[in-house]
Formats: sequence, C-alpha cells, structure tokens
Amino acid sequence: MPRTDVESAHIVEPATTVAGELRVPGDKSIAHRALMLAAMAQGESRIEGLPEGEDVAATVACLRGLGVNIDRTGGPVRVHGGGWRSFSPPHGALDCANSGTTMRLLLGLLAGSWVSATLDGDASLKRRPMARVVEPLRTMGARIESREGRAPLTVTGTRLQGRRHVLSVPSAQVKSALLLAGLSASGPTTVVEPVATRDHTERLMRAMGTDVHQAAGAVEIRPSHQPLRPINLSVPGDFSSAAFWMAAAALRPGWSVTIREVGLNPSRTAFIHLLQSMGAEIHVDAVDADIEPLGSVTVTGRPLRAVTIGAADVAAAIDEIPALLSVATQAEGTTVIEGAAELRVKESDRLATMSEGLRRMGATVDERADGVSIHGRASLRGASVESHGDHRIAMALAVAALVASGRTTIEDADCVAISYPNFFTDLRELTR
Ligand code: S3P
Repeated sequence: MPRTDVESAHIVEPATTVAGELRVPGDKSIAHRALMLAAMAQGESRIEGLPEGEDVAATVACLRGLGVNIDRTGGPVRVHGGGWRSFSPPHGALDCANSGTTMRLLLGLLAGSWVSATLDGDASLKRRPMARVVEPLRTMGARIESREGRAPLTVTGTRLQGRRHVLSVPSAQVKSALLLAGLSASGPTTVVEPVATRDHTERLMRAMGTDVHQAAGAVEIRPSHQPLRPINLSVPGDFSSAAFWMAAAALRPGWSVTIREVGLNPSRTAFIHLLQSMGAEIHVDAVDADIEPLGSVTVTGRPLRAVTIGAADVAAAIDEIPALLSVATQAEGTTVIEGAAELRVKESDRLATMSEGLRRMGATVDERADGVSIHGRASLRGASVESHGDHRIAMALAVAALVASGRTTIEDADCVAISYPNFFTDLRELTR
C-alpha cells in the first residue's frame, strides 16, 4: 500500500549497547530489475525474497498496470512474462511513487515497446532530474515528453537504434535504462561510465540469455530480439539497508552486529572499506552464489578516525553516505566528503538534510556545494530532527541518535517503509 501523507514521528533512545544478528529486507535494486526483466521473459520467473518496501511495490504496480501478471500470494513471487511485445496500454498514469529507479528503468523499458504510457510520481520524484535519462534515450530514437526535464514523463514506444553512450554522471539507473532500451533496439548498445556503478542489470541480463560484454568502464549488449529466459532468483539482503547496522555497530568500541545473507556484489560494498579505513573491525564471510554474491558481515566497533572521501568513493557508496556522516560524528578529526553533488538530487537533498539533522544534534558540519565536512568527535544530544520524507535520512539520523545524550524524535519517520518497513523494530531488537 502506498504511504499516506500522515506524518509520523519515531523516538529513538540512546543505546548503552548495540549487539546481535539479523537479516535485512531483499535488495531493492536487484528486485526492481528482476521484476522488469522477468516481464520481458517468455514464461514464469520465480523471485524469492522480494522486499516488501514501497519502492518495489511501485514497480509491481506499474508492471501490473502494463498487463503483467505478478502473483504475490505467498512463497516466491511469480511473474508470468509474456516476452517481447506483451505489454498492454495502461489505464491512466503509472505511479512510480517515490522510486527513481522505477521511473528511470521503466522509461528505458517502455521506450522500445509497443505502448504509450505516462510515468508520474510523488512530489519528491517530480523534483528529480530526468533529462539525464530522457536525452540519451532520445538519441536512440525514443519519443518522450517531459515537463522541462522532470516528471510526469510520457513515452510513446517506438523502434530504437542502438548507440554508444558516454555518461558524464555515474548513474546505475541511467546505465540500466539505456541497457533496457537496448534490448529492443537494432544493433548493439554501449554505455561508458566515468566510474563503475552497480552491475545488477548486466548480471541478470546475462543470466537470462542476453549477450553482455563488460570491459574497463564500458558495457555492451547485443540484443537477440528473442524473449529473455525466465529466471529463478533468490534476492540477497540489501547491502544499503544493512549499512545502517554496520554504521550503528561502528559507533562505539565493542558494539557488534552481524548481518546474514546480505548481498556482497563488489559494486555495492565500498562502504565496508570506508568503515575499515575509519578503524572499524569487519569480518566478511562470503558464500557461493550464481548471479549475485552474498554472505555474512560482522562489524565490531573500534576507535574511529576521520577519512577524506572523493568522487569515486562517493559513487561507489552513493546510498551509504548518510550513514557514513553519522559515523563521522564519532571519528577523531575532520571527515571531508568531496565530489558528492549527486547527493543533492536524491529523495531529498542529502547534503542539506543530513547537515541540518546532525547540526540539530550538536555536530559541527560545514556544507559546500559538492560536499560536507564533519568535525569529530561530537557530543551529540537528543533533538527533534526531520527526515524530509527521505527513508535513508530517517535511518541515518536514527543511527546517530544511538550515541546522543537524551532521546531523539525523528519526524515523518514512517518513510523508512520505502525500503525497510521493519527498521524501527529491528533497531529496538539490536539495542539496549
Ligand atoms: C540505484 C542507483 C543509484 C542509487 C539508487 C538506486 C539503482 O541511483 O542511488 O538508490 O538501483 O540503480 P543513481 O543511478 O541516480 O546514482
């Protein structure tokens, strides 16, 4: 069910200890892609561990709106793909809610289809830049109308021509939209990235029978124009959700959390190396897996030191930077984040919303156009802070609240349901 506009506050008490082990919801990046690609396959795909969050629910609803049969009645989710050309025209706009991945990837998927559709979203999604995906799709022949580069977007499926795209901003969403469009284009589609981003689309496409070549900084697909093969997939835990517990454990020497069955795709795990360079002790136990690596991660807190993080690290840990900022308040010295302007165009302006929240809790934060500096160690105090409707801000500030003196009220905290509906239940179980 989509979230209502009713605002809800959550109170987080300071913790005397953080300890335990848990599993986190399935990876939402993988889930969006698995659903969309399963819709492009001929036959039944089974997806185990599909997360319950609102972003993935938006993708399910949009695909259903296009006539895709998705059975979510317990056990693995079953997607009855009709293969190529099976979409039917939706009645009314497709609501991508808060989910940028849903909107950008669906746009690529629909650009070469036989249907027309309008993609819309909530107020946050309507503010986010879409030209970065609309413009390169247009160079393939796509017919898309936008409101000055923003949603709502109306796409009229048409014949596409494969192309070589050189991206100026690292974005797995843009890369994936272009590759999805490339599935129906004539000729190969190549995407060259300034920094390698998550490669879930490439892994799934290959597993489903697409000819995918990955070489230094570039990916190329050669479409066969046959429907994809259906897939049986077990979605690992979402590394970006697990990162909040890794951050929480790192805050104080001796605190420790183990996250089991979490995705360990190397394009997602840079946060582990960043936390290690700050001094946290981390043990990773990988298990064998076909498509997406996974395993257990144990983080144990040790004295922390500040780090300097540049654009490449920011791109590699793009969704983990809010959690890292909370950790930085407890590190000795000044943590400097540079080359992070992309954070300003996420579900909220994350440089501004994290700076505001941490400052209210007593941290000293310098905010610049493309980064922030956090002066540690700060003695945080409980305060009233705002999520700004951004799930990762609510969770990152909840982590910081564990080491504040006094209770912290997080306003509009129900937005955690976008990616992690049980976040506050798990928080209570891990803390004392
Ligand atoms: C995502 C890519 C990233 C990330 C987002 C999920 C994806 O966005 O921030 O949460 O699933 O491809 P960008 O592609 O805009 O960097």
